[in-house]
Amino acid sequence: MPIPRETVEQILQTARIEEVVGEFVTLKKRGSNMWGNCPFHNEKTPSFSVNPARNIFKCFGCGKAGDSAKFLMEHEHFSYPEALRYLAKKYNIKIEEKEQTAEEIMQQSLREKMFNINEFADKYFVDTLWNTEEGRTIGLEYFRERGYLNPIIEKFRLGYNPDAPKWDAFTEHAKKNGYSEELLEQIGLSIKGSKGLYDRYHGRVMFPIHSLTGRVIGFGGRILVNDKKSPKYQNSPESEIYDKKQTLYGIYFAKNAIAKNDECILVEGYFDVLRMHQIGIENVVASSGTSLTMEQIRLVKRYTKNITMLYDGDAAGVHAALRGTDMILSEGMNVRVVVLPPEHDPDTFGKEFSTEYVSNYLKENAKDFIRFKTELLLKDAENDPIKRGQVIRDIVETISVIPDSIFRITYVKECSRLLDMPEQTLTNELNKILRAKLKKTLGIENEVVTETDTTTVTQPKQEETLEEQLPAGYYQERELVKLLLMYGRELITDERIDEDGQRIYEQVTVAQFIIDDLKNDGFTFTNVVNKKIFDIFDHAIDEGRIPDDQLFVSHEDETIAQLAADLLSSPYKLDQWEKYGIFVKREENVLRATVLSSIYRYKDLIIEERRKAIEEELKITTDSDDQLILLKHKKDLDDIRKQINKELGIVIAK
Ligand code: CTP
Ligand code: MN
Repeated sequence: MPIPRETVEQILQTARIEEVVGEFVTLKKRGSNMWGNCPFHNEKTPSFSVNPARNIFKCFGCGKAGDSAKFLMEHEHFSYPEALRYLAKKYNIKIEEKEQTAEEIMQQSLREKMFNINEFADKYFVDTLWNTEEGRTIGLEYFRERGYLNPIIEKFRLGYNPDAPKWDAFTEHAKKNGYSEELLEQIGLSIKGSKGLYDRYHGRVMFPIHSLTGRVIGFGGRILVNDKKSPKYQNSPESEIYDKKQTLYGIYFAKNAIAKNDECILVEGYFDVLRMHQIGIENVVASSGTSLTMEQIRLVKRYTKNITMLYDGDAAGVHAALRGTDMILSEGMNVRVVVLPPEHDPDTFGKEFSTEYVSNYLKENAKDFIRFKTELLLKDAENDPIKRGQVIRDIVETISVIPDSIFRITYVKECSRLLDMPEQTLTNELNKILRAKLKKTLGIENEVVTETDTTTVTQPKQEETLEEQLPAGYYQERELVKLLLMYGRELITDERIDEDGQRIYEQVTVAQFIIDDLKNDGFTFTNVVNKKIFDIFDHAIDEGRIPDDQLFVSHEDETIAQLAADLLSSPYKLDQWEKYGIFVKREENVLRATVLSSIYRYKDLIIEERRKAIEEELKITTDSDDQLILLKHKKDLDDIRKQINKELGIVIAK
């Protein structure tokens, strides 16, 4: 049944974009817009904007834009009518609709049908828990016995699926209400046995699993009797509306508290979430016993970068804590671990102690993961030098997944102290791993690096470091590629002298500035992948457009896509200047200074390389004419270099 046109208009006019988006994305006001991390693509710096005046959103990173309905269609995968219904509900706008006929039910999309039947089941389980004899004496009594109070039972819509009389009470009820056997089986509420359909969750207390928006996408049911043959928990199978790896139990109830506290506490089980909420700690979600997925981590990342893992004090719990960390770290998030006393899980711990005691325990025992892992592994390896070596490699491996080099360095320092081991040794180990990864990214695993002539080495040979082994200028090139990808479309002021000696200023894009500047001086990138990206920009600029980062991230050439994704997902601070005590006032000037200094540094390095080559040449050249030519080249290079350093000085001084 279509929604009347006037109602559609009313809905769209009433909906406030910042309120609709605000339920899913943490927004911060800056100027007349609000900004947040785009939920449609992975980003570190907010490029997702909401314009309350125009009532639209737009992501400058991925280009997605539109109104409230469009946002919901993209984000929740709603159809247009679903989006409108959601908004109508949110803003209490009544949609005139008649009772659905059987045929109309048939015509609904499968997803909608699934949401529907889950909502129906959810109501039934809740109703059964509170209003039937079996529900109250068995189900509700179970929650009571475990110390759960009404507000929590109601909030999380806990329920009960009866056992009596023959395991099919719910299935029969659903069939009577027009739900097909096929759908019941598909969504997993019922199972087909030899005597027909029966309830998957018969005799279990029920946990509905909610999506971010609070719709029921699945269920978990806990058994109440000791039965070795049945698993303790039965969970919904995956379906068109339930994707386990994208789901965190409790996220709907926790998201606001997570954003507010800027921290997400991760536990393992349904009851752990309930308990924490009951004692007033609400920024808690559960991975539901499985190991954490990248999708779940990104879900959390929309609200905070800080994850605290709260796991059982037993060996299995500690192991579970270790499993997820590398993945979280590689997303550039901060991980801390809290281990409970061995006899506890968060549920029993919260039951035994007061809220104050629990919060204090969390505060005092939250350990930075690196510390946690180091201490833990070290305990195992105490006096065994071979094991100790393994521990070191293991920890350095973990450090190597952290995208931000500054953090990596901090952790190396910390570990050097904890392991009582020279920092340099750890750095060398780290560089070896990073280098291997980089080579893999660049697809040069099997390439033989030409050895330099060892006889000319006069200094004692240093430990290899990453920088020494990579082709000259690699980092500088990569820095420029990163600027192209991240800020290519931004405008900066180009300052130059025209033919009449006049100083002129014009606004150009960062991409155009970099490409033109390098091309003018006959530079291009030497690394194959960097060069490909350079060429794409060069070509696009010729055609009068600037490609955006998505083009690279989803590029068919995997080496390009990989490098772009890597660069774009590692944070970039434009305000590094302050570190050197240099203050650049306007944002645009900061960008300009960064671009210029990156270009200069790159050129400087290349020149240094060429200069070195000339010096080598000079050593073996006996012909005096050749020597003169070489010396002239060298002098030219030195002049350019001086000029560059002067300009760099000017840039920094500005
Ligand atoms: N789990 C599951 N299926 C099982 C066992 C566990 O899905 N057969 C999931 C559930 O989400 C459960 C979580 O793993 O909440 C943690 O398991 P466990 O520690 O065994 O259960 P608890 O949550 O402690 O449950 P209870 O306190 O009721 O024993
Ligand atoms: Mn438990």
